[in-house]
Amino acid sequence: MKTTIDQVKHYVGQEVTIGSWLSNKRSSGKIAFLQLRDGTGFIQGVVVKAEVSEDTFQLAKNMTQETSLYVTGIVAEDSRSPFGYELQVSSIEVIHEAVDFPITPKEHGTEFLMDNRHLWLRSKKQHAIMKIRNEIIRATYTFFNENGYIKIDPPILTGSAAEGTTELFHTQYFDEEAYLSQSGQLYMEAAAMAFGKVFSFGPTFRAEKSKTRRHLIEFWMIEPEMAFMNHEDSLQVQENYVSYIVDAVLTNCSLELQTLERDVEKLAKIKAPFPRISYDDAIELLKEKGFDDIEWGEDFGAPHETAIAESFDKPVFITNYPAEIKAFYMKPDPNRPEVVLCADLIAPEGYGEIIGGSQRIDDVELMKQRYEEHALSGDAYQWYLELRKYGSVPHSGFGLGLERTVAWLSGVEHVRETIPFPRLLNRLYP
Ligand code: 4AD
Repeated sequence: MKTTIDQVKHYVGQEVTIGSWLSNKRSSGKIAFLQLRDGTGFIQGVVVKAEVSEDTFQLAKNMTQETSLYVTGIVAEDSRSPFGYELQVSSIEVIHEAVDFPITPKEHGTEFLMDNRHLWLRSKKQHAIMKIRNEIIRATYTFFNENGYIKIDPPILTGSAAEGTTELFHTQYFDEEAYLSQSGQLYMEAAAMAFGKVFSFGPTFRAEKSKTRRHLIEFWMIEPEMAFMNHEDSLQVQENYVSYIVDAVLTNCSLELQTLERDVEKLAKIKAPFPRISYDDAIELLKEKGFDDIEWGEDFGAPHETAIAESFDKPVFITNYPAEIKAFYMKPDPNRPEVVLCADLIAPEGYGEIIGGSQRIDDVELMKQRYEEHALSGDAYQWYLELRKYGSVPHSGFGLGLERTVAWLSGVEHVRETIPFPRLLNRLYP
């Protein structure tokens, strides 16, 4: 019976064949222990000299790392293995012998691992991170589908900048200039006016010259947009959504969290509602924490966000930032127009901002005024203005950065390990 590692639980006591790779091995004179992986999981194959042919035992003993093989054996329960099962090997068929696989079980430097990202992905740690990434994506689709949202795909090639013009990737679009999308938001607003509640999931690009543990040049964003929802409604969607994905990862990725030695106690506390702090109060808190130089009107950097997050054991919303440091489309607070109805959600433990969101301006005259202030003109923005001309309604939305969320839930330090092939300031390969 041909099967996969994640299915062996159904075949205890039976003989199975698994297509796999050798990830590691140890052997004594009498037994060889093969660490096998097949993409669905990891299992130990035990080859006992006395129970197999001499050729099979020699093959097992001398096999090189990453050799591909069909292994046949009896599935047995094994309480010592984190996976719970082992394979008592009877025969081995080598498919392809790997020679000098560069990533050995010893320690390697980050640059070396990044140069070998196409091979590094095979490691147990990377496997666990990608499974958690996949679970967050799966849970995202379930959450929004179950709550009445329609998935809408905004374009990647665009003529308008959603998040300011300084970080755009320019490209030629026949005779015109185009950009790679920084955010699908403007299109999602059009979609919300057509379909009510929508969400997107796609790649976004920012030519940011930032070399930090939180910045990628290409990253994936989940962007919901909701008609007839105000800022407060949107905050509730955000905290329910984040609680949902944390719970999904805790429930469905326990083995992966164990592999990554993630402190699950901390994640188990992440349940809506989340605390909120206004920008004004955040400034006061920062001054109390020794950031004497910070002035009202300045944006927060990573050290500020980390200091604020330290005061809470759940993600915290920082709300109502000064209009001047936020995007042109955010709706001013009617009681205090110098601040906008927006929030950033800051993850605990120093993982930084995972969501940016706001209520959008719905008044066409105010939007025209913002166009003038931000020098936005031409065909690229005309259509966006028209959304306020024909049946404009209050609406809100947000963007969750997938990689920062994966980093937080996996407990990995740097976002470069949370996407299969990271695009970083100085890295376009592999
Ligand atoms: O706060 P941002 O820039 O918000 C927007 O783009 C809005 N248009 C979203 C919306 O309202 N539809 O980005 C949203 C999130 C951030 O909170 C962060 O998690 C992530 O995207 N992000 C990045 N992740 C990795 N690398 C980068 N360079 C990122 N820039 C933003």
